[in-house]
Amino acid sequence: MPFVSFVKALRAGQSVQFPLEAKSLEYARGLDAEDDLGHLRDQFLIPTRGSLKKKALNGTLLGKGPNGATTNQDQDDNTPSIYFVGNSLGAQPKAVRSYLEAHLETWASVGVNGHFTQYDNSPLVSWQDMAEDCATKSAAIVGASPGEIVIMNSLTANLHLMMASFYRPTEKRHKIILEWKPFPSDWYAIQSQITLHGFSPATSMVEVQPDPSPNNFYISTATILSTIDAHADSAALLLLPGIQYYTGQLFDMPLITRYAQDRGIVVGWDLAHAAGNVELALHDWNVDFAVWCTYKYLNAGPGAIAGAFVHERHGKVGRDGSGKAEFRPRLSGWYGADKSVRFNMEKEFQPTAGAGGFQLSNPSAVDLASLSAALGVFGMTSMARLRDKALVLTAYAEWLLDGVLAGDGNGGDGGPPFRIITPRSPLERGTQLSILFGEGLLERVSKRLVENGVVFDVRKPDVIRIAPVPMYCTFVDVWKFGDIFKEAMNSK
Ligand SMILES: Cc1ncc(COP(=O)(O)O)c(C=O)c1O
Repeated sequence: MPFVSFVKALRAGQSVQFPLEAKSLEYARGLDAEDDLGHLRDQFLIPTRGSLKKKALNGTLLGKGPNGATTNQDQDDNTPSIYFVGNSLGAQPKAVRSYLEAHLETWASVGVNGHFTQYDNSPLVSWQDMAEDCATKSAAIVGASPGEIVIMNSLTANLHLMMASFYRPTEKRHKIILEWKPFPSDWYAIQSQITLHGFSPATSMVEVQPDPSPNNFYISTATILSTIDAHADSAALLLLPGIQYYTGQLFDMPLITRYAQDRGIVVGWDLAHAAGNVELALHDWNVDFAVWCTYKYLNAGPGAIAGAFVHERHGKVGRDGSGKAEFRPRLSGWYGADKSVRFNMEKEFQPTAGAGGFQLSNPSAVDLASLSAALGVFGMTSMARLRDKALVLTAYAEWLLDGVLAGDGNGGDGGPPFRIITPRSPLERGTQLSILFGEGLLERVSKRLVENGVVFDVRKPDVIRIAPVPMYCTFVDVWKFGDIFKEAMNSK
């Protein structure tokens, strides 16, 4: 029963020593046999080695032509790729197609009536209720009540909307604490918010730096806390990623949230790389707000509609003495208005209580249908089970990569040919491993990986990121990746 004992050790923060026979394909197959989430892979369309070579659409989902007929030599390889890029774009859940078809049939058949009617034999609720339905399906994924979640817009747009409400700088408190290498969109959003409020990014942006040692990317919790202390009187907002996109470092969200809030700082999290990847408890952690996209670990498709969390205490709607609604200031739109009055077309904004009151527009039913299908797969399991599997998959990938290093000796410059820059502690990372190559290696190794059907992501000049996502990746995938990687490292 190695799988269960590995989970136990990894959940306790220990690293796992795989036995020597773990180098064999048979061993990987054994781990897959023990994995009770293996059936979830059938819910997805994993690009094949053949379909990845498509130059033109041919009316089929993967490589083969209609009824399995050969399309052309190149596209005829139905071997699944090693799809290790769910940290960038999740694989397509099969259900997306039927949900979209249901939506299209509804729209074609009943037109505008689809807004308010739920049809038998449809996986969808009425268009009006779809965003709330997706919020309900997201609740267990992010650890919040459905009323604390709103499904709308895209990640950066939601970041701006949240900052409009939660970043209220004053002469005394105007700084935003962020990390040194945020995703550029977060940087631009923060910078522009500061400028819009009439402050200067030079004095209002505080970047938490990695601990100073050569080539270090790791940011310790102690460094984050001491940065908070250093700016405790002047920071208005702390905005960090739950998981850092470049290194895959998972931050201690509950501790950092508490520490900053105790010093009067509002706390928001960008969960682009954390939602659907690691267990979250946004409500219990008392997070003020959070935002995430749904196209990475949540598999809703490129640019799909995003999510935002607003803690219940910020979403309350009260009444003043004259019966006027009282609520947290925000940028408002008609879809944030309570359903009971939304269509009265009045000038007075009366928000829905909760995060739904931050909704702006009538959300896209196409987007919501896709997200609803993708979230349905999460409903077949739990984040705890996905995390269990992810811990072992990632540790196995790490162990195989370390094996390549041990067998490979030094790179040309005397240093190791590559380095895993993702934290070694299983509790400080999600599914992703980031690999930093020695000079000149990235191109050669990447080419070999691509030729051998590995789909991954490159951050030039010298990093690749791989993510063996537990929902549809297998231990055999990880083993094959290790084998191909070794061959790629040794190729000339
Ligand atoms: C951490 C992070 N923030 C922001 C974004 C931008 O997201 P969007 O284009 O959906 O606004 C991304 C996209 O990958 C991201 O990874």
